[in-house]
Amino acid sequence: MNPAIDQLKDLIDKLEAEHVLSGQEFVSLIDGRTSELSECLFEKARRIRQEHYGNDVYLRGLIEFTNYCKNDCYYCGIRKSNGRASRYRLTKDQILSCCEQGYRLGFRTFVLQGGEDGFYRDDVLVEIIRTIKAHFPDCALTLSIGERSYESYRSFYEAGADRYLLRHETADPAHYGKLHPPVLTFEARKKCLMDLKEIGFEVGCGFMVGSPGQTSEHLAKDLIFLHELQPQMVGIGPFIAHHDTPFAAEESGTAELTLFLLGLIRLMLPAVLLPATTALGTIDPLGREKGILAGANVVMPNLSPVEVRDKYMLYDNKICTGDEAAECRGCIDRRISGIGYQIVVDRGDSKQVGGDSRKFDSDSKQADDAAIRNFNR
Ligand code: 5AD
Ligand code: FES
Repeated sequence: MNPAIDQLKDLIDKLEAEHVLSGQEFVSLIDGRTSELSECLFEKARRIRQEHYGNDVYLRGLIEFTNYCKNDCYYCGIRKSNGRASRYRLTKDQILSCCEQGYRLGFRTFVLQGGEDGFYRDDVLVEIIRTIKAHFPDCALTLSIGERSYESYRSFYEAGADRYLLRHETADPAHYGKLHPPVLTFEARKKCLMDLKEIGFEVGCGFMVGSPGQTSEHLAKDLIFLHELQPQMVGIGPFIAHHDTPFAAEESGTAELTLFLLGLIRLMLPAVLLPATTALGTIDPLGREKGILAGANVVMPNLSPVEVRDKYMLYDNKICTGDEAAECRGCIDRRISGIGYQIVVDRGDSKQVGGDSRKFDSDSKQADDAAIRNFNR
């Protein structure tokens, strides 16, 4: 029997007040959700994001600079065993021209995302990071290039990178093992996230919704993991099968559950930077708008050159692969203003208290140490 809706609404109030629930309470909310409960959650989520960010929606320009990857994640279309993927790498100059075009279109954050590609050694990336930051000193630079050593992360930070996205994918070690080959572990992923935090990056983690074998208990663990890590950014989107992966025949996640989780995350981490992701826009043509209305406050249009767009296929039917950056920019503007929000020309830093990066003063170091201890428990 589902707990009565009033009890579930009480749990939502409790989440708003205390920013965390027990695993069992999260499971009750997830399993007992109805459209009435979701509406009540989204209303609160909108109010909270309004308090922190008003009607502003931040833009991140995604530059998918390599689809080579040494990993073999079972869900991912650019996994190394996919011999049918047509591989590409962008040069420093190509990356810079994506940034130039993005800057003209009002982007003030660039996200360099790629597979784990050994071609981009630390020194190669440091040079790219330095050049971007020298050309665009008023922009934030985010990296999303997977697992590297503490020393590598540190060199990227010192070169000027501000933020780092590394989804944890699932906070359940056994489930992690169902999504990845044995060389990849949740332990290693967690260590990377803690290293990134300690170095001073604004950190983003996240997970897929409806990945094969995922249960409500797993999602509850993901939410508790977010509470422990206290990331500045959280990226979630539905799992969508890619036809050339071991998960080709698996069912996709739903927009409905993704939206519900976006709402919960806004209540847990009131000032979090929360994108309405491309995967959400792929599974539902109005997914990104619905994401904003469920509490998200970021969109990440693609700035990659159109010639390579259809090669960065993590999953089937990805949207925007044929569109020029300027078209996506206009389209996103109309979509966001159509629901009463506005895209702003801004770096879009986190407004989380103590959430600004590049602080090495002892106070924040102590707070970080406490957070890491808490995270280790
Ligand atoms: N469906 C949805 N999301 C995916 N990702 C990778 N493959 C898929 C897929 N098939 C997500 C992962 C990764 C991010 C870059 O994209 O969560 O961290
Ligand atoms: Fe890319 Fe709409 S956002 S075309």
